[in-house]
Amino acid sequence: MTKESRRAALKKLSLSTLGLPLASASLTDLGEITNTLRQQPIGNAGFDKPVTAITLGAGSRGNVYGGYAEKYPNDLDIVGVAEPNAIRNERYTQKHKIENSNRFKTWEDVFKKPKFADAVIITTPDNLHYGPCMKALQMGYDVLLEKPIAPTEKECRDILAMVQKTGRIVAVCHVLRYAPYFIKLREMIRSGAVGELISIQHFEPIQHVHMSHSFVRGNWHNSKETTPIILAKSCHDLDILRWLIDKPSKNISAIGDLKWFRKENAPAGSTERCTDGCAVEANCPYSALKIYHQHREYTYVFDFPEDKSKHGDFILEQLQKTNYGRCVYRMDNDQPDHYVTSIQFENNITASFSMEAFTSYHGRRTRVMGSMGDIVGDMEKFVFTDFATRKSTTWDVKVDDVKNYEASGHGGGDWALASDWVKAVKAQDPKLLSSTIEASIESHLMGFAAEESRLNKRVVDIRI
Ligand SMILES: NC(=O)c1ccc[n+]([C@@H]2O[C@H](COP(=O)([O-])OP(=O)(O)OC[C@H]3O[C@@H](n4cnc5c(N)ncnc54)[C@H](O)[C@@H]3O)[C@@H](O)[C@H]2O)c1
Repeated sequence: MTKESRRAALKKLSLSTLGLPLASASLTDLGEITNTLRQQPIGNAGFDKPVTAITLGAGSRGNVYGGYAEKYPNDLDIVGVAEPNAIRNERYTQKHKIENSNRFKTWEDVFKKPKFADAVIITTPDNLHYGPCMKALQMGYDVLLEKPIAPTEKECRDILAMVQKTGRIVAVCHVLRYAPYFIKLREMIRSGAVGELISIQHFEPIQHVHMSHSFVRGNWHNSKETTPIILAKSCHDLDILRWLIDKPSKNISAIGDLKWFRKENAPAGSTERCTDGCAVEANCPYSALKIYHQHREYTYVFDFPEDKSKHGDFILEQLQKTNYGRCVYRMDNDQPDHYVTSIQFENNITASFSMEAFTSYHGRRTRVMGSMGDIVGDMEKFVFTDFATRKSTTWDVKVDDVKNYEASGHGGGDWALASDWVKAVKAQDPKLLSSTIEASIESHLMGFAAEESRLNKRVVDIRI
């Protein structure tokens, strides 16, 4: 990029100076460098009739996309559900007014009936993505597919081949690609603001209680029953690195293990469950009594009775019979709690990625290093420093012209993805999506290679 074109690109970017937010330039003024940044608020796509969909798995994520349908009923109508948990099945059915004949216990049953909707939303557990996705494509459904695509490389490649064969629309829920923060960060890099991209350092602080909830006690505590944490948690991050760098990855090396949440670290006096009279419960950061009962954190996993006055007792019951009440040092967990990777991309661009359980905070932190400038960001705002002028400028998601994003999780990405997906299905145009299978699969190949590297202690080539 020439000096003049770099200057012109910088002028076009809507940044605030020295951390003080200026009134944002209109997003449409950003010209060719904004072609990835959404210019419309999400939802209310203006269809003559909504896209119809069947949800497979009415758990937490099924309700995130169900929430989009509730908020934007002219965009998306949920007309069927498969869910073995009777309470969830009933509640989802009521919420979306689903006909009895379109309610099923398991995903297999949905496909015994002739096609009765435009699309399926696959929000089943990780090891139940492949079966329904392949079947849905064969029957002509479009698909919203939760990440990870599938637990093995072969299954991911099979799904890719089936998408190419059938030509159906499939969006992988790499929701960070739809978050305005990451869209803007990518735009900055592509504008040439930092000169030539040299390297990125990306960090995913899981937060220690979140780690204990999901990857020690919760659904993803066993990598063999679900997927290794580099896919289950961090395929978003490998995907974002690939997307920001915009070049194929070549090789990866990874180290890390499960260091802390192990039986040998169980404190003296601790018990199988926090409710068993554990001697150290009062001072334990992972006390289930404190997390779930006292602070009412992460309680979305419990299917509460309607009567709110019974919720306290209900939580205590759950802590006595589910994994959520078990001691974090006495679980059958195997997911690493620290994981460090180095990745080489084409054009000698390097990236390092760390996933860390032991932090007091959530989110993502990213540092971009270029020949003419750098960017330091925390998923809410980023600071760009121009080496030539020595000036620092800030972009802040809260002050930029982005509407409706706070309405959903993952920095607004959840519903922005749903919004783009319904538009892509309606128009039968995969170009309206940034997370097609083709675009998303590389992060999974990077994840499989990272696990191979970590377990075999060697650098592994990424075979695209
Ligand atoms: N995109 C993201 O950022 C993100 C975030 C969290 C989870 N996820 C992924 O979304 C998927 C769902 O996760 P979740 O947190 O909603 O889990 P969840 O356990 O809350 O929901 C999964 C649901 O699937 C149901 N189910 C199990 N077997 C089934 C079957 N045979 N047929 C139909 N339904 C069945 C379960 O009863 C459960 O209600 C997982 O693959 C997960 O990794 C993605």
